[in-house]
Amino acid sequence: MRSDFLWGGAVAAHQVEGAWNVGGKGPNVSDMMTAGNVNTKRIITETLLPDAYYPNHEAIDFYHHYKEDIALFKEMGFKCFRTSISWARIFPHGDEEVPNEEGLKFYDDLFDELLANNIQPVITLSHFEMPYGIVKDYGGWRSRQFITFFTRFAKVCFERYHKKVKYWMTFNEINNQANYKSEGSVFTNSGIIFQEGEDKEEVVYQASHYELVASAMAVKMAHEIDPSLQVGCMMAMTPIYPYSCNPDDMLKAVGANHKRFWYLDVQVRGYYPGYMKTFFKRKNFHLDITEDDIVALREGCVDYIGFSYYMSFVTKGDGDVYLDYDESRDLCKNPYLQETKWGWPIDPKGLRYTLNYLYDRYQLPMFIVENGFGANDILENHTVHDQNRIDYLSAHIQEMKKACDIDGVDLLGYTVWGCIDCVSFSTGEMKKRYGMIYVDKNNDGSGSLKRYKKDSFYWYQKVIKTNGEEI
Ligand code: BG6
Repeated sequence: MRSDFLWGGAVAAHQVEGAWNVGGKGPNVSDMMTAGNVNTKRIITETLLPDAYYPNHEAIDFYHHYKEDIALFKEMGFKCFRTSISWARIFPHGDEEVPNEEGLKFYDDLFDELLANNIQPVITLSHFEMPYGIVKDYGGWRSRQFITFFTRFAKVCFERYHKKVKYWMTFNEINNQANYKSEGSVFTNSGIIFQEGEDKEEVVYQASHYELVASAMAVKMAHEIDPSLQVGCMMAMTPIYPYSCNPDDMLKAVGANHKRFWYLDVQVRGYYPGYMKTFFKRKNFHLDITEDDIVALREGCVDYIGFSYYMSFVTKGDGDVYLDYDESRDLCKNPYLQETKWGWPIDPKGLRYTLNYLYDRYQLPMFIVENGFGANDILENHTVHDQNRIDYLSAHIQEMKKACDIDGVDLLGYTVWGCIDCVSFSTGEMKKRYGMIYVDKNNDGSGSLKRYKKDSFYWYQKVIKTNGEEI
């Protein structure tokens, strides 16, 4: 492990900040989502319903507690802290020409507090966040105008914070929407609600294209503003294994990985891979991809690969010559792995596999910006004995170390997801906790918001102190 390895934790603005309508902030897409659970999906409401519960509105009120929380991160020894900038704090409706000073000031204060505690901020520009105002008025990323709105937002952030923030990412888990049948993913990635009768797949490829162009333009702009800035992509890395060594399974996995990770090829290499071009042609998609877009993609390749890793998937061959992959249809269970209570397969070795796969393919520095274990913790005598979380994290860190020390990959850092308990993205629950710091807040919104250190707090403190030697 490198001596300047960036150990830390990660959250996203909408999952922690709360203060959803404070300081001039407008509603974000996440503010329109009710709470669900492992069996019930979150509902996206077009207006705020008086009787519904919206868990992101208060979240853990990090907006008012950040100083106390940063003190705890410092105590754990964090070298970095990943969060996002709430786009609707800066541009409340989304299409304003002038940013909201109060929103900008909040992030100035937050970054100053981190830096004063020797913690480097690592920032995502859009982590499932975009102002709901422009989503409603323009239909989300189905509109090319979103490129203008996003790059304006990115420019304001780079200009304002470039002396405080070195590592940036453009869009969080941009490839979640590869599963275009998941309405939640498409809404949070792209602010899109499908219309009756439209080709969902084509709509999502068009939106993705605009995001990729906007991302590339942001990378270029960041380098012009300050050449020392490092801008990465952020991929949900869920490697898809073949079910067996049957060549049909092997080939199906190739097709499945193409469909999940083509975004990476574009963001790292600056052009569409051949397999996507032939796919678009076969499907007869009429995508709006201009010559200028192609130039923009080429000029805005990312500096590093940021990714989240929680689990791996498995698929089986089905004789389809095109190797088409539909996540809701083509996944099967891995008989070798256990799952969390939320059905997420636990596969630490998959992290070593992923690091090797990405490094072999792209030869770029990487940053594991999310990894963690969601569990229903029990607070007893002001603490939580979360050995299950320690086991999960320790197994993953060990595999990460092997990838660095034995396989020689270039890894910048590792941030534990939800280092402080926060609202679950997929279910909107508080009960699906990832933190090393417990927050007294319940699924129904009750709770004192008090913070408590879990056993994993002290465990991670030691991991960081020994630079991963004592795990
Ligand atoms: C990633 C997201 O998908 O996984 C986070 O970037 C999210 O926003 C995390 O919270 C864990 O997922 P969940 O649904 O368990 O909160």
